[in-house]
Amino acid sequence: MTYTDKEKKFKRFTVTTALPYANGPIHIGHMAGVYIPADIYCRYLRMMGEEVLFIGGSDEHGVPVTIRAKKEGCTPQDVVDRYHNIIKKSFEEFGTSFDIYSRTTSNIHQKTASDFFLKLYNEGKFIEQTSKQYYDEQEQTFLADRYITGTCPICGNERAYGDQCESCGSSLNATDLINPKSALSGNVPVLKETKHWFLPLNDYESFLKEWILENHKEWKTNVYGQCKSWLDNGLQPRAVTRDLDWGIKVPLKDAEGKVLYVWFDAPIGYISNTIEYDKDNWEKWWKQKDTKLVHFIGKDNIVFHCIVFPSMLKAAGDYILPENVPANEFLNLEGDKISTSRNWAVWLNEYLEDFPNKQDVLKYVLCANAPETKDNDFTWKDFQTRNNSELVAILGNFVNRTIVLTHKYFNGKVPAKNELNELDKQTIEEIKLYPEKIGTLIENYKFRDALFEMMNLARLGNKYLTENEPWKTFKTDIKRTETVLNISLQICANLAILMEPFVQFSAKKLQQMLNLNSLKWFEAGNCELLKVGQEIQPAELLFERIEDADIQKQLNKLEASKKANAINNAEVTPQKPNVSFEDFSAMDIRVGTILEAEKVTKTKKLLKLTIDTGIDKRTIVSGIAEYFSPEEIIGKQVSVLVNLAPKNLKGIESQGMILMAENADGELCFVEPQKQFKNGSTIK
Ligand code: 2FM
Ligand code: ZN
Repeated sequence: MTYTDKEKKFKRFTVTTALPYANGPIHIGHMAGVYIPADIYCRYLRMMGEEVLFIGGSDEHGVPVTIRAKKEGCTPQDVVDRYHNIIKKSFEEFGTSFDIYSRTTSNIHQKTASDFFLKLYNEGKFIEQTSKQYYDEQEQTFLADRYITGTCPICGNERAYGDQCESCGSSLNATDLINPKSALSGNVPVLKETKHWFLPLNDYESFLKEWILENHKEWKTNVYGQCKSWLDNGLQPRAVTRDLDWGIKVPLKDAEGKVLYVWFDAPIGYISNTIEYDKDNWEKWWKQKDTKLVHFIGKDNIVFHCIVFPSMLKAAGDYILPENVPANEFLNLEGDKISTSRNWAVWLNEYLEDFPNKQDVLKYVLCANAPETKDNDFTWKDFQTRNNSELVAILGNFVNRTIVLTHKYFNGKVPAKNELNELDKQTIEEIKLYPEKIGTLIENYKFRDALFEMMNLARLGNKYLTENEPWKTFKTDIKRTETVLNISLQICANLAILMEPFVQFSAKKLQQMLNLNSLKWFEAGNCELLKVGQEIQPAELLFERIEDADIQKQLNKLEASKKANAINNAEVTPQKPNVSFEDFSAMDIRVGTILEAEKVTKTKKLLKLTIDTGIDKRTIVSGIAEYFSPEEIIGKQVSVLVNLAPKNLKGIESQGMILMAENADGELCFVEPQKQFKNGSTIK
């Protein structure tokens, strides 16, 4: 029984985590927002003896996957196969305790999602609507919102997408964009009629209002607030199908080229994964009133999990609804928004390579700093400080001192608890409170506070040990040393249990050191966990210091990403007004070779070049001296505008111009033929 469900309303827990898109590896933002809190919650519930099903899986449909495939020149299936495996392996290595981690391209999911759609279709729960959507005539395809770019009508950003402007954060409709362009062909798309199936969310509005706004006032304020604002603004029918060739085919005859919208099929993935896990009993996890359904998600998924999916479940009829949706805000990285496309992230697979066996450190830091009520920032410096000053200096140090002293004075055997003084009694009383204090916080999704309380128990232990100085009493009052080390060891044993949901690898290590078998939450909270005379193992460090050099390596990695982005994103000079073909043809551009080069005296920028243009040998003055020395360019083939009117520069007549490419930083490079070409060859 949990601490807050005193009437035992719920017999089991179905806990879902947002299915990550399989278009990239998983990063610390995903972990802090969704998977770490969910894992802590499930580990705790299992220790409370509850029946839990912890569900994860990859979201393999949707446009982000097709965009990645297009970029990489492979199929969407190749993309999801690759990333599903990377993500799954990272979760396994990180120790996320999913009961099932599957994928939305599985056969079971295809069937479950199709059947779900058909059930609603056959029961008349959808409306059919024809609307006009952007179509790329050259590519002969309708364009998903992400495939349309244009100018944001709100902030003027010229690179807004058809669904969102990343510059001002506004949600957009593709038809709102000024100067829309297809990302596939670059052409202006046309509006074309297409038929889709819509779930009339407006029909569920009053049910949702009562269910959320009246009956779930206890939801987190960020979640409740977002739901309220959606419901206050009024709901519209939402299309559950799309014109795309990647996804689950709409299981109807007149639906050629149409698939289920990814946000329709993905949450059904939770159900499919349950069927895959427990084919014969899956319904008890989704249809019995004594099952508590909890969705762990990030704030960008709130509307889908609180409004759309519950309406789908309600439409289907006999499903339970989520009891809670403890969505988190976002985690930033070193002050900047985490971004897959800008490679501004700490990827879980890379972390595990760079910090082997340090899963607990990341789990600890991300929980301590979780964006529970507002966006938060992850910095490598904070990671180091929390490791060195909290895990090492408080938790690790307390455990290590206690175990080392037990070996030193009592041959590694738990000493007796003798007469207790006031401080001992007070400490024992305090220990009693921790399981419920931490448990209640976890049940209320306050994972940061829960972790802080767990650390407070270690702080209490450290203080108790330091104030009682058993190393001093050893010579004068051995009975006192026995008592103090007994109580300190009991605190270690309590920690070994209460740490488990948060830092399970270290908890296991500590349990082994103490030869402690019990892992039941209710058994913590007392000072009888270790029997007098029981042997314990020698001390092993639970945590190690992280040095500046390790942190610097990570900062350098981020710096490199920043530089790469600056090069990729540098502003492109706007296009000049059109010229006629005749204007262009009027320019005579030839391949030439630099025969001689020398600096023009008293100037910084100019080189005087002698060029073999194939027509003649002539002098050209070029402003490239800051980028090239005369020696390095002699013999180079270049492109020369030979019929540019001659111009006098610093007293030298320049008879033409060398063509150069220039990037946004003003850096220059020659435009040269790919292979040696005869001088005088024309360029057109
Ligand atoms: O936002 C995302 O990453 C989505 N792939 C989450 C899907 S959650 C669920 F519905 F599967
Ligand atoms: Zn904008």
